[in-house]
Amino acid sequence: MKIIKLHDLYFKPFINKEEISTIVKRLALQVKNDLPKDEIPIFVGILNGCFLFAADFIREFKGNCEVSFVKLASYEGTSTTEEVKHLVGINEDLTGRTVIILEDIIDTGATLQEIYNIFRDKNVKTLKVASLFFKPDVFKKELPINYIGKSIEDKFIVGYGLDYNKLGRNYPAIYQLTTQPKMKNIVLFGPPGAGKGTQATLLKEKYNLLHISTGDVFRFNIKNETALGKLAKSFMDKGDLVPDEVTINMLKAEVEKNADANGFIFDGFPRTESQAIALDEFLAEKGEQINGMVALEVPEDLLVGRLLERGKTSGRTDDTDEGKIRNRFNEYNTKTAILKDFYQAQGNYYGINGVGNINEITTRLSEVFDTL
Ligand code: IMP
Repeated sequence: MKIIKLHDLYFKPFINKEEISTIVKRLALQVKNDLPKDEIPIFVGILNGCFLFAADFIREFKGNCEVSFVKLASYEGTSTTEEVKHLVGINEDLTGRTVIILEDIIDTGATLQEIYNIFRDKNVKTLKVASLFFKPDVFKKELPINYIGKSIEDKFIVGYGLDYNKLGRNYPAIYQLTTQPKMKNIVLFGPPGAGKGTQATLLKEKYNLLHISTGDVFRFNIKNETALGKLAKSFMDKGDLVPDEVTINMLKAEVEKNADANGFIFDGFPRTESQAIALDEFLAEKGEQINGMVALEVPEDLLVGRLLERGKTSGRTDDTDEGKIRNRFNEYNTKTAILKDFYQAQGNYYGINGVGNINEITTRLSEVFDTL
């Protein structure tokens, strides 16, 4: 899950769809357990926001039931107007019936007050209210809410039926209002030897970013014989990539150490789709995101030559053996190239011709960095 932008505002992931599903199931079960045996309730959803909640709730409800909807509106933008408009009313005869209101969210309670007003003179046997979300800090009424899915802090949310000025209802999870992302985070991408390290060093100066080279982070840990370092070494020596979890934990620690940075250039990370997803989630929790993946594109044979040259002086054992180098390319091709699709699907992929002299390539990269 990533940060989303709706109109002028940014929202970060808050409640995932698995948690929503668990809450909805629990509510449906509670409601059922409280009903007299064989009672057929009428569920009345309060539109528009409840349409997904109502649909999921009703499917989880085990027993016969009727379904109806009322359409009310009180919100404009991200604050309540306290004046509730009736847009679609109730047509059914509710005399002697058990009515259970399905609300997406109760905030000040203005809408809830209106609901009680509407149903007061309908001669119902029982009236109960089930709300998926509830903001206790702003609730101003003394009205019963019989079932609450989850109490949340007083911050505007969207998704799963809830909108901000009509947008956001279609997201399957809940997102919370956040500030505009401050960082410029770039994934510098390309096969081993493509020149990522060299370019990152130049670009971090130019854009005042921190360069996180996975290779350097590994080598630091290995040199200092940390637990993660020793583990990583056993894989690197074989020319294999280090397992995702080890890599992710090392990288997260690096970002946490530099929380005030203007942004990061990630070099050599992510290398797999699961790492990319973990990175997105980790940044989104902070209200930040990857602005783009910038990839250096260089033909493979040119790269093998470059790496063997580097191995003569760099002291990197993984650069001295062509077999190991080819092994890394295989890993790269089978796993990492998938990331191109991943970032492309987000509209975040920028391919750069990585053949040429260093300055030329820096210029090409800068042209893209400037737009991110
Ligand atoms: P209340 O009348 O102030 O209790 O607000 C209830 C209605 O306002 C809900 O049915 C929603 O339509 C809307 N609302 C309240 N809080 C939020 C929010 O955080 N996001 C989106 N809509 C909200």
